[in-house]
Amino acid sequence: MNSNGQSPLASKDEVLVRIVNLKKWFPVQKSFFEQTLSMKSLHVRAVDGVSFELHRGEVLGLAGESGSGKTTIGRLVLRLLEPTEGQIFFDGIDITHLKGEELRKLRRRMQVVFQDPFASLNPRMKIGEQIAHPHSIHLKGTESERQAAVEEIMTQVGLTPARQIFDKYPHQLSGGMRQRAVLARALVTHPDLIVADEPIAMADVSVRALLLDLMVSLQRDLNLTYLFITHDLATAKYICDRIGILYLGRLAEVGDLRQVYRTPLHPYTQALLEAVPVPDPKFRRKAPMPKGEIPNPINPPPGCRFHPRCTFAQDICSVDVPELRELRSGHSVACHFAEQFL
Ligand SMILES: Nc1ncnc2c1ncn2[C@@H]1O[C@H](COP(=O)(O)OP(=O)(O)O)[C@@H](O)[C@H]1O
Ligand SMILES: [Mg+2]
Repeated sequence: MNSNGQSPLASKDEVLVRIVNLKKWFPVQKSFFEQTLSMKSLHVRAVDGVSFELHRGEVLGLAGESGSGKTTIGRLVLRLLEPTEGQIFFDGIDITHLKGEELRKLRRRMQVVFQDPFASLNPRMKIGEQIAHPHSIHLKGTESERQAAVEEIMTQVGLTPARQIFDKYPHQLSGGMRQRAVLARALVTHPDLIVADEPIAMADVSVRALLLDLMVSLQRDLNLTYLFITHDLATAKYICDRIGILYLGRLAEVGDLRQVYRTPLHPYTQALLEAVPVPDPKFRRKAPMPKGEIPNPINPPPGCRFHPRCTFAQDICSVDVPELRELRSGHSVACHFAEQFL
């Protein structure tokens, strides 16, 4: 059990979200000349065959460098993007191709928190009205019931005194308060799932810990399930129960957070963890960050996508794609040679 001290009442074996071999390929816009020269269409393989389960009441982190496909997975799960291939199940129902009224109903149960609260709030609308908006779309009730629900959630996220803040505009609040408003708006419909996409990345360093603490206690008090997207493994350590490490649109490793951090089985995870700053000047890194940049997802390397940067790569790594293998209970890795790290 993680620092968030999940209540034993929350059944962690109940699968809330399951994605199966999910793919999202974005077509690349080509110039007229390129189109004339070649009929072949190019795609950015943003997500290229990802499967995982998210259990009710848990926090699953998705980590990886910029461009690894984290945001795209979040948007696919929320059905804000159409998948190219694969399936998405929510609470046992296949929602991959849900449309119209059914999709609208589902939206009440899954909400999103993006990293930039300024961009996700309407500058010309009062904070309280913005928080009330999803409530008025998804839930019935009188105006005074709605007002009460909004004030309750505002108080819960620390936007107090709620009555006063209700009438303020986004620019009148601090960055931290704006992110609290975004959280309140996401929570006012009593969702099951929150996809939090780098929710504290834009906040001042001074308020990041407060926001994280708030997200931890909300998760526990409201029995929420989080898909917590971050490029920062130190943040993930603080809040996640399990973590998936993404590399170029595929999962390199997934498992219980403490197991993955203590015994990372993928060379990429090892390198990422080595790069997490440690407040000790005597500390020396065992392994340097791998050489080179993250390759282009339009034309990913064959075999294991990480092989050009991997210190342990052998011939097979440039030929055979390693599948995720469960090497320890609840801890899977996609590396041909991961046994050496057990
Ligand atoms: N709408 C889009 N059209 C074309 N390419 C996209 C689009 N959205 C994302 N991509 C590309 O997909 C890859 C993964 O992006 P993203 O999911 O945003 O990664 P992350 O959130 O991990 O930084 C990147 O190469 C990005 O440029
Ligand atoms: Mg992103």
